[in-house]
Amino acid sequence: MNRRLGVLISGRGSNLQALIDAIRDGRLDAVVAVVISNHPDAGGLEIARRAGIDALCVDHRMAASRDDHERAVARELRARDVGLVCLAGYMRLIGAPLLEAYPQAILNIHPSLLPSFPGLDAQRQALEHGVKVAGATVHFVTEELDAGPIVVQRTVPVLDDDTEATVAARILVEEHRAYPEAVKLVLSGGWRVEGRRIVRDAGGAPA
Ligand code: GRF
Repeated sequence: MNRRLGVLISGRGSNLQALIDAIRDGRLDAVVAVVISNHPDAGGLEIARRAGIDALCVDHRMAASRDDHERAVARELRARDVGLVCLAGYMRLIGAPLLEAYPQAILNIHPSLLPSFPGLDAQRQALEHGVKVAGATVHFVTEELDAGPIVVQRTVPVLDDDTEATVAARILVEEHRAYPEAVKLVLSGGWRVEGRRIVRDAGGAPA
C-alpha cells in the first residue's frame, strides 16, 4: 500500500504529533506527505511546519459548499500522491467527494470505545453515563459518523474521582499509542473487511 499519509486536522494536533514521533522513531514505516487544516489557526499546522512537513489550510468558510470544500481537500491530497488519509481531530463530517476519492482509505480516531458515545464530547458522555472502562477507537470512515469498521481499540479505567479532564487525558495517552498502531496495521496489508469486522488473512503480515 502507498505509505504516504495525508493528515487532516482542525486543532492542536497531538495525534498528528504522535504519528510524526512514531515515524521518526522507526515504529511506523510511513511518510506524512501533507497536513491539511480547515482552520488557519490550528496548532497542528505549526507542529507540521516545525517537522518540515508540507502544511496548508483549506478553509471551509471560503468554499461555496461542503462538497466544494471536500473536493478541494481531495485535490490537495491527490496532488501529493497520498494513499491513506488520517483524520486527527478533524471536526468536519466526511461526505461523498472524499469517500469516493479514498475508498476504504480514510481513518479516524475517536475518544471512546465505539459504538458507545459517538459524536461530540465523547469523554463527558462516558463519564456521565458512569462507565468503568473508557478508551479510544481508530476506525475506517464511512458515510455514517463514527460508525465504520474498527481497526484498533485501547481501554483505560474510569476512576471514582475522575473529571472530564482527567479521563480525557488518560484516554489521550492511549490515542497516541492507538493511532500509529492502527496505521501500521492498515499499511501492512494482509487483512480484509468482513461485514463490520476487520480480520487478518491467514498468513497475513503481523501488524
Ligand atoms: C482527540 O481526542 C481525537 O480523538 C478527537 O479529537 C481530539 C483531537 O486532538 N477526534 P488532537 O488535535 O489530536 O490533539
